[in-house]
Amino acid sequence: MKFAKNILCIGAGYVGGPTMAVIAAKCPGCKVTVVDVNEERIRRWNSDDLPIFEPGLLDVVRSVRGRNLFFSNDVVEGIRAADIIFVSVNTPTKTFGHGAGMASDLQYWEKTAHEIVAHADRSKIIVEKSTLPVRTAEAMECILQENKKGIHFEVISNPEFLSEGSAVKDLLEPDRVLIGSRQTESGRKAAQEIAAIFAHWVAADKIITSNLWSAELSKLVANAFLAQRISSINAVSALCEKTDADVAEISFAVGSDTRIGPRFLNASVGFGGSCFKKDILNLVYICRSYDLNEVADYWQAVIEINEYQQERFVRKIIKEMFNTIVGKKIVLLGFAFKANTGDTRESPGIFVAGKLLEERAQLVISDPQALENARKELSGLDGSVEYEPDPYRAAVDAQAIAVITEWDIYRKLDFAKIFASMRKPAFLFDGRNILDHQKLFQIGFNVFPLGKPSLTHFK
Ligand code: NAD
Ligand code: UGA
Repeated sequence: MKFAKNILCIGAGYVGGPTMAVIAAKCPGCKVTVVDVNEERIRRWNSDDLPIFEPGLLDVVRSVRGRNLFFSNDVVEGIRAADIIFVSVNTPTKTFGHGAGMASDLQYWEKTAHEIVAHADRSKIIVEKSTLPVRTAEAMECILQENKKGIHFEVISNPEFLSEGSAVKDLLEPDRVLIGSRQTESGRKAAQEIAAIFAHWVAADKIITSNLWSAELSKLVANAFLAQRISSINAVSALCEKTDADVAEISFAVGSDTRIGPRFLNASVGFGGSCFKKDILNLVYICRSYDLNEVADYWQAVIEINEYQQERFVRKIIKEMFNTIVGKKIVLLGFAFKANTGDTRESPGIFVAGKLLEERAQLVISDPQALENARKELSGLDGSVEYEPDPYRAAVDAQAIAVITEWDIYRKLDFAKIFASMRKPAFLFDGRNILDHQKLFQIGFNVFPLGKPSLTHFK
């Protein structure tokens, strides 16, 4: 079959895979190829055992795979054949050298730029899909324009705003699609070409165009704003615990103001995920590089509160369990950084588990999707850790349960049955405020929600 356009995506990860599957489903006239250097990942994308868990994703992939969606390790052929190349490689925090622990590690991204120059034999549009520091497109243009073949690459920024666990829905019904380009004739034309892809299913008023730098920076700022809301409510949760105010009531009251809005105001054990921390660290680093230290300090505080909240949660467990947890069996309900994903990157569960193990607790980790990743995250730590997918089995003989992930299944557990199988006094620390605390208390648990009065049977 002859396709109108060949679209390539370099990087078959949490963003590249789902995004391209949806583009293929919505643009049957385009051939969409996703390439990656990771052979195992590509093998799994070509099977029904996809490398990432996302509700609804397998159905979308199955409907288009082999029709106009292809997964391959052949990066070179992918580049040759493509009219449009999305670059969706990982951009983690740098772990070495200058800017370590703060700046973005751009090595994977830069490698793709060199590969594109080496193997492209005609002009192409290059789309930054990865989250990148503002003005990265300038560096990409420099590398790409170095070619001696007389071909032109137009660089576009099209940051991705999907959330894990709802990626398919977010891609099908985005709040907006942002396309940044050079404000030149060729830049605007390339932006229109990218907009035309999304116009297959996204309303015109939701496709926003901007200059390149605004698009790049909007992505970092959007994540910083979202994380800031969580740190704000988490900071308030600490004050609630001192004053007997209820953080959920405050979220509702404050979020009812239409200027503030109700979403992203759930107090938690802390935000996790591969991006919030890395993107804010990157924002802070960029601000400092421009000598904007007050601005950098402001955003850095969002991360500091997140670390404080995780520490506070662990300190509370230890203090309430009579200042010692040595040899006590503690169940972590959930290990994914949020519900509906198996992703554990930067999950607060990693911090909590590490600290509880340092205190020599015996941990049992339960999660419906993330146990494979949990094992990898905790490998190398000293201490006793079991992995048990069944929460009922996990709780047998346990002294305490700590809710780390807001999986829906945990709301529906039979806690009377769980309580009966546990050692007494039994403790429950709800790091997500998803359970019915009054009911748990009546069953016999000593209950410690976040940002709400605790319910204990002790005099
Ligand atoms: P990921 O680690 O899941 O996937 C990146 C993939 O790129 C990996 O499979 C890796 O093997 C591949 N890769 C690296 N270098 C390559 C090369 N030279 N050639 C071919 N393949 C290469 O990362 P992700 O979570 O998909 O994130 C990708 C980007 O999107 C990041 O910049 C991230 O900040 C951003 N982002 C992520 C999310 C999310 O929910 N995970 C959401 C929005 C934006
Ligand atoms: C986030 C953003 O929401 C996406 O728009 C963005 O594209 C993505 O980062 C990215 O750049 O990677 P994601 O990290 O997948 O998406 O998930 P979120 O729903 O934002 O949750 C992030 C963390 O915040 C989770 O640990 C979650 O449990 C926590 N959270 C969220 C809270 O603690 N309270 C809330 O009210 C909301």
